[in-house]
Amino acid sequence: MDEVVRGNRVVWERASGKHVREYDELLAQARDGGRLFAREAELLGPLLADRPVVVHFQSGHGLDDVALLNGGASRVIGVDYSSVAAGAAQRRAVELGVACRYVVAEVPGVPVKDGSVDLVYTGKGALIWMRDIGAWARDVARVLRPGGSLFVYEAHPTVPLWTWDEDEPRIRPDRSYFAETNVNDTFPGNGAREWQWNLGHIVTALVAAGLRLDVLEEYAEPFWRPADGTKAAAWSGRLPNSYALVAHRPA
Ligand SMILES: C[S@@+](CC[C@H](N)C(=O)[O-])C[C@H]1O[C@@H](n2cnc3c(N)ncnc32)[C@H](O)[C@@H]1O
Repeated sequence: MDEVVRGNRVVWERASGKHVREYDELLAQARDGGRLFAREAELLGPLLADRPVVVHFQSGHGLDDVALLNGGASRVIGVDYSSVAAGAAQRRAVELGVACRYVVAEVPGVPVKDGSVDLVYTGKGALIWMRDIGAWARDVARVLRPGGSLFVYEAHPTVPLWTWDEDEPRIRPDRSYFAETNVNDTFPGNGAREWQWNLGHIVTALVAAGLRLDVLEEYAEPFWRPADGTKAAAWSGRLPNSYALVAHRPA
């Protein structure tokens, strides 16, 4: 494992303690059916209709996995390099009796067979942790069966640029859309090194890996807002804060 990735993993093992501390709350949310955004559920509808086997790259707390099962997935394999995150998600899956299995492993390098997966699901704070976006895209293409799809619902790459000022949107003087990396300074990844993959990098990596792009939509609403109630002006509807991407491996 790359040295910077190893350092980030230490940060994530610590941050994932939240999933253990808030186990009961997450269990209650999972019992409620998990959560997908409305547009996300709409885009996923046709992809879940055939009861796909799903691999969730960087599955984190895994709440989305319950929602994917409720939406039609036959089973979900979550892959995360945090043993704390995967352990808490597995304990919950067993308690709920749902078809989710969690594997502790680095992405890319997901330990599932080539061409064995109907749908790769990822996002909500995932791609910024990829050291090599080309290797990530190739791993997606490798695990998908011909005809299988990738679904990403992710923070827009401009998000690290926005200040959290409430009066008007501003661009942070220490950030650039074209920077290579940033140091994360918001919970939970505080102190870890992110990679600043822009939309061009992501789409080009997927196309180079042999996938075809079906959907790329940008949204004003962030996928995440801090619990302290901060309402940054950058999240008020004028700027991009998240996106959805669907691609498939040609049959
Ligand atoms: C912000 S969380 C998002 C996870 C998930 N989408 C969710 O909503 O909970 C990012 C997750 O990626 C995992 N992660 C980061 N880099 C990784 C890597 N290279 N390989 C595997 N997991 C990784 C972290 O452990 C963390 O659980």
